[in-house]
Amino acid sequence: MSIPASSPATGVQQSNDHYDVEAVRADFPILAKPMNGKKLVFLDSAASAQKPRQMLAAMQALYEDHYANIHRGIYDFSVRSTDDYDAARARVARFINAGHPGEIVFTRNATEAMNLVAVAWGRTHLKAGDEIIVSAMEHHANIVPWQMLREATGIVLRVAPIKPDGSLDWDVFSKLLNERTKLVAMTHMSNVLGTITPAKEIARAAHAVGAKVLFDGSQFAVHGGADVRAIDADFYTITAHKLYGPNGIGALYAKRDILESMPPYQGGGDMIERVTWEKTTYAAPPNRFEAGTPAIAEAIGFAAALDYMESWGLERIMAHERELLEIATARLSAIPGLTIYGTAPQKGAVISFTIDGLHALDVGALLDRQGIAVRVGQHCAEPLMDFLGVHSTIRASFAMYSTADEVEALAEGLEKARKMLS
Ligand code: ALA
Repeated sequence: MSIPASSPATGVQQSNDHYDVEAVRADFPILAKPMNGKKLVFLDSAASAQKPRQMLAAMQALYEDHYANIHRGIYDFSVRSTDDYDAARARVARFINAGHPGEIVFTRNATEAMNLVAVAWGRTHLKAGDEIIVSAMEHHANIVPWQMLREATGIVLRVAPIKPDGSLDWDVFSKLLNERTKLVAMTHMSNVLGTITPAKEIARAAHAVGAKVLFDGSQFAVHGGADVRAIDADFYTITAHKLYGPNGIGALYAKRDILESMPPYQGGGDMIERVTWEKTTYAAPPNRFEAGTPAIAEAIGFAAALDYMESWGLERIMAHERELLEIATARLSAIPGLTIYGTAPQKGAVISFTIDGLHALDVGALLDRQGIAVRVGQHCAEPLMDFLGVHSTIRASFAMYSTADEVEALAEGLEKARKMLS
């Protein structure tokens, strides 16, 4: 079933008639599995998205057909595996519109990508008194590496606040920028509030004071597409498992001259040029930053997941998710005592909320018994929870395979939980 031509909850006219969500769902085997004996309603894709069979098949094909370690063999399988790995890098580069595949470093995930920047770029280029600006809605992955850098170097970490609707407080942010600002490190889309930050404007303002800019694209990349050249990002981080790809692989984008100015992050095989007991010289980027055998099959799966998304069309996927977010916002808002956190005009397909008098964990447990998967807790964003004045929230997140029926199942599940718990 494709989502209805107009939603009874909102009356919103749907414009995405050709998007066949049931055909999409048929490509994700796990969606047909029951959970707790109930029909699965999977609304936790912001934590990790489910996997299409095309992606799984690409990884299996490598292992069954010509798997071998890369960059280390002159025999056919190794050469072919190397070619596949290099093609995956080029595929990721194309997905985020990087200028060159060499600007893509494969990492374990977005968290490792940010740690790589903090260590290899931060410890090389920053000194005591230099300033980094983050926002009040960051994931821990975009907070803790800079705190560790602060401990190591004496840099100053500044926090740009957000407005009540969850959008960046531009006036305060712009006043924080000064000649000591060396990096603005900000989410491109909040994993809790859904807020999409004005990346282009942030980059322009940061560059105007000579600072570099990093965007954590973990959430945005799957809901909004990402174009690193259009926004003029210096660094951009993504993770495959939220993009319908495998776990254990992500990517750091960095402009070529910046990567060239950075020393290695880790030492080992494949990142060197020449090793002697006296001195070791390092390979050029991106290999300089990929010590050891990388996640070869995962890179190939990552590329296959991007192919899969693009086979449906990013614009159509986004339109589908926007519709679901509108339907969910209207339907959940009608539940008495329910408060939604994050109502910025630019918002991606996640919705966080609390219900008066109910603990998020209890609600999550009751939803689980009904086969509904949501995330409850602090979402790796404890400073944001403090800022919002809540202990925890319930978060539903939508993906290319989510349906209006699932939104309705969530709303009914919440109404049931409200009756049982109050
Ligand atoms: N960062 C992921 C989330 O928001 C794990 O759930």
